[in-house]
Amino acid sequence: MTRMPLVAGNWKMNFDHLEATYFVQKLAWLLRDAKFDYSRCELALMPTFTSLRSIQVLVEADNLKIRYGAQTVSVTSQGAFTGDVSADMLAQLGCTYVIVGHSERRKYHPEDDANIVDQVRAVLAAGMQPILCVGESYEERRQGIELEFAVGQVKDVTRDLSEEEAAKLIVAYEPVWAVGTGMVATPDVAQDAASAIRAHIRSAFSDRTAEDLRILYGGSVSSKNAQELIGQPDVDGFLIGGAALDVEELARIARLTLKATTRG
Ligand code: 13P
Repeated sequence: MTRMPLVAGNWKMNFDHLEATYFVQKLAWLLRDAKFDYSRCELALMPTFTSLRSIQVLVEADNLKIRYGAQTVSVTSQGAFTGDVSADMLAQLGCTYVIVGHSERRKYHPEDDANIVDQVRAVLAAGMQPILCVGESYEERRQGIELEFAVGQVKDVTRDLSEEEAAKLIVAYEPVWAVGTGMVATPDVAQDAASAIRAHIRSAFSDRTAEDLRILYGGSVSSKNAQELIGQPDVDGFLIGGAALDVEELARIARLTLKATTRG
């Protein structure tokens, strides 16, 4: 397998910039002590906008291998859009990734498919990688249309992308019923969804793009379930909410991911 695993913490609206700085320092110490190999497992944090500059300064000063990004982005590049932050501004702050279409953004903000496509384009145009979140609610799962639904969300966003653009995408399968609930998907459920998403990318683009696409699982990930989930052939890492607020727990998940994906 050539796909580099990615463990990404989505801090949502938690931690001010001082707390964020302290967390990143502590995470870097913990992983240095554990001789964590960043060249075999990527680690990224998605703080609020207000912490990005502090994290950039720390990462650059200490030459840390931890990557970081934002939780959303404006679809426009500049102008009279009060409260928005542009993709170029994020790129200037050294962001590698931007989460796009998180279920909490889809729910609490008017982010529909058209807006999400535009965010993906804005992120790509600024030279960063979008982490596109998809996933069904409990209702769709009850109706047995969960795979159609999640793949449909990927389809809606990738329809107008070129192969070159699609190759930069990362998809996070985050079933809404598993987000923040403690009800983690079983390894089979995560694998089935990841495999269906990869199959769609294969048919829409090519074998190569499908094989290179990183698909993360998100929803109540912890050190108790990470090992089994990452053991699935199409699960390439995690997008972690609650467990990413605990530095020791996040370091444990990162180490488990590295261990599981570098065996043999
Ligand atoms: P939890 O890990 O808290 O379920 O959140 C998942 C999530 O929304 C990551 O984006």
